[in-house]
Amino acid sequence: MSYYTHLECCECGRTHPTDRWLGVCSCGRSLFARYDLPRIRAEVRRESLMHRPPTMWRYREFMPLGRDEPVVTLGEGYTPLVPLGTVGPAGGLHRLFLKDEGRNPTGVFKARGASVGVSKARSLGVRRLIVPTVGSGGSAWAAYGARAGLEVAVTMPVSDAPMIARKDCVATGARVILIDGTTTDLFRMSQRAADRYGWTPIIALREPFRVEGKKTMGFELAEQFGWELPDVVLYPTGGGVGLIGMWKAFEELQAVGWIGSKRPRLVAVQAAGCAPVVRAFDAGADACEPWERMDTVVPGVKVAKAFADRLILKAIRATGGAAVAIEDAETLATQRRLALEEGLYISPEGAMTVAAGFRLRDGGAIKAHETIVAFNTAAGMRYPHLVRDDLPVVRAGDEIVLAESPRSDRVAPATG
Ligand SMILES: Cc1ncc(COP(=O)(O)O)c(C=O)c1O
Ligand SMILES: [Zn+2]
Repeated sequence: MSYYTHLECCECGRTHPTDRWLGVCSCGRSLFARYDLPRIRAEVRRESLMHRPPTMWRYREFMPLGRDEPVVTLGEGYTPLVPLGTVGPAGGLHRLFLKDEGRNPTGVFKARGASVGVSKARSLGVRRLIVPTVGSGGSAWAAYGARAGLEVAVTMPVSDAPMIARKDCVATGARVILIDGTTTDLFRMSQRAADRYGWTPIIALREPFRVEGKKTMGFELAEQFGWELPDVVLYPTGGGVGLIGMWKAFEELQAVGWIGSKRPRLVAVQAAGCAPVVRAFDAGADACEPWERMDTVVPGVKVAKAFADRLILKAIRATGGAAVAIEDAETLATQRRLALEEGLYISPEGAMTVAAGFRLRDGGAIKAHETIVAFNTAAGMRYPHLVRDDLPVVRAGDEIVLAESPRSDRVAPATG
């Protein structure tokens, strides 16, 4: 039994059956999974979640899998909301939380989409996946592919592919192919190989299941805040799948009566060196122009023009949100502060969203006591190259000198 009824095109509204793997609608646009929400409303109480395991599969009724379709899971989701009790108030935000997606399997929120996508691929008889990626998506799909016994090929740009992503894709048995070219080349070449060899391409919003995984971030926000959504959500936006997914989650939750009509203001955060959504938002446009020369240390937002740019802009405008661009220097300084002062070694994507919170606070768009959630989409450990460590080596027998440390000025003097 399942509440999953059909796939629906976001553009032309055409409906499609659920019994085969479909990438996009015949009109070329994204497909969304739809559910029998009135029946969920009648049959499922939100209180029933209390006794379920703390993973994103606690929202199983809102997932595109039937009871007899086994789930490929590594325990993803239900990540903590960590209060930023030092850095937040210092920057004028008294209820600032980090949704720490770095705790997911493979250290990145892409585990959510991969868990649903790989589960669905396996149950629909899809055996070979090719995943063009700037890195973290490959890690997740490779790991879940290994767990499901599927073949996975990951293509990454040779110039940009983070070392950790290369290593963990190799470790989990993906066929890793490095492309000497732009991201446009990467997608074009991967699509061609997929067509030629009969592999299934896995590209954000050109398959309907990743977004179903990512929408669970929205379910969790609702549940973790006691079914009262926060005031603002700050999200590092590349392809925008997470933002669109959460938007979809809130619609579904309201339709089943688990939340009211209040929505958080959705804020798309991008790097100043690649900010097509911010540029379109500021210009009042409803689509993005491709960004010409992407230049940032934040890999997750290196998307020149999101496939679903219209949906992203619609979601942030409809909620009274905003789009903010952060310079890399500020992102790295914020990353360091969170590590030093909160003990949270997070991704540059996550640090960028925290910096955006302070920017909006300074500009008056966020009030001091509003509830703010910044998304850290990956663990800092996936980016070892961003930490400078010119470390002293002391020869055996020499003295170790303990002088100032980076936090000396904050340590209270010993008493007694
Ligand atoms: C760490 C990280 N954060 C954020 C993003 C952007 O995700 P979305 O497609 O949901 O905008 C990505 C995408 O690659 C990512 O790897
Ligand atoms: Zn269509």
